Amino acid sequence: MELKEKLVAVHPELDAVRAAAGEGPVYVVGGAVRDLLLGRGRADLDLVVVGNASELAAKLGAEPVEHERFATAKVTIGGHEIDLATARTEAYAEPGALPEVEPAGSIEADLGRRDFTINAMAIPMGEPSKLIDPHGGRADLDAGVLRVLHPASFIDDPTRALRAARYAARFGFELEGETAELLRAADLDTVSEDRREAGLLRLAGEEEAVRGFALAAEWGLIEPAPDGLELTARTAELIADGPWSLAEDRARMLRTMAMQPVGRESELVDARPASPSEAVELARRFDPPALVSARVRGAYWLDEYVREWRDVKLEIDGDDLVAAGVPQGPAVGAGLAEALRRKLDGEIDGREQELEIALAAARAEAGG
Ligand code: CTP
Repeated sequence: MELKEKLVAVHPELDAVRAAAGEGPVYVVGGAVRDLLLGRGRADLDLVVVGNASELAAKLGAEPVEHERFATAKVTIGGHEIDLATARTEAYAEPGALPEVEPAGSIEADLGRRDFTINAMAIPMGEPSKLIDPHGGRADLDAGVLRVLHPASFIDDPTRALRAARYAARFGFELEGETAELLRAADLDTVSEDRREAGLLRLAGEEEAVRGFALAAEWGLIEPAPDGLELTARTAELIADGPWSLAEDRARMLRTMAMQPVGRESELVDARPASPSEAVELARRFDPPALVSARVRGAYWLDEYVREWRDVKLEIDGDDLVAAGVPQGPAVGAGLAEALRRKLDGEIDGREQELEIALAAARAEAGG
């Protein structure tokens, strides 16, 4: 399929953009071009306008992004998110600092500020069969190579080194020789904690996160926690589905496992609970990420907690005890707790027995 047909097939939302853009200098850029050439679908689209993006943004009913000095905007059309930006160049006053931004007079100038050749290509909206590829990105895509545009790239923005790990993991690409050398000299300490953290979280959000962390470690970008990589791999597998699944927190969880030594949850790893009730009492003091961490470190008893014991509920509640004459207050809680304990340990069964045990325990508490 030709570039133009691919573009139309993957991004039908471009119809609306084309109508609004007319003859204007509007370009599809960055990851959207790369993924199109790789034959990978994606939901979001980056567009650059040489001149000013505000007019196009207004025609599309896009919401301006307020904090940006140059017009940028976001709009969602047919479920596809479109990022609009004004073409710009960037100059870095200091390593790792945020760049000084100037308007770019051409799309080539805008492409020249970017991280890797595979991300520095553009397709003009008015001429969608044409690929603007000043840095040989297409050839690098075909060869499976990550290459920076200039030797100062990682000095300008060391977070690009983490981006390299992300793309290398995702696409199975290699670093080009000089890029590899430059990357080994990258110093993530020059960037703010927030930006470093954001980079790690994006790495952790990759399907191939484990491979990404392994590469980042191999390249000297990060220092994982003891056994961090092995534990991250086990965690990714454990939380993928089933009773341990933790879909929404996956990235945060993997990032923690890779980088953070064991914490308070080591208590769970060392514990040998003598009964289900003892297990529940201990486990419920920890949040789900801590439970996952303990489980991949060997607290296999938590499997039964997560599959069964955690969800064991009484058939009675506090109202039943109050109706039977127990005064409101701590006695109610004590009664229910005792009944749950006995139920967990298989000593009682059914509503009648629950009530009997709970009342006895509550009365003992109220009386004593
Ligand atoms: N970019 C860059 N340097 C950075 C961050 C971004 O050059 N430090 C450029 C790249 O051209 C990139 C584009 O901005 O393609 C958009 O960045 P981003 O949305 O982070 O990446 P995508 O390429 O869209 O990758 P992904 O598929 O992971 O979203």
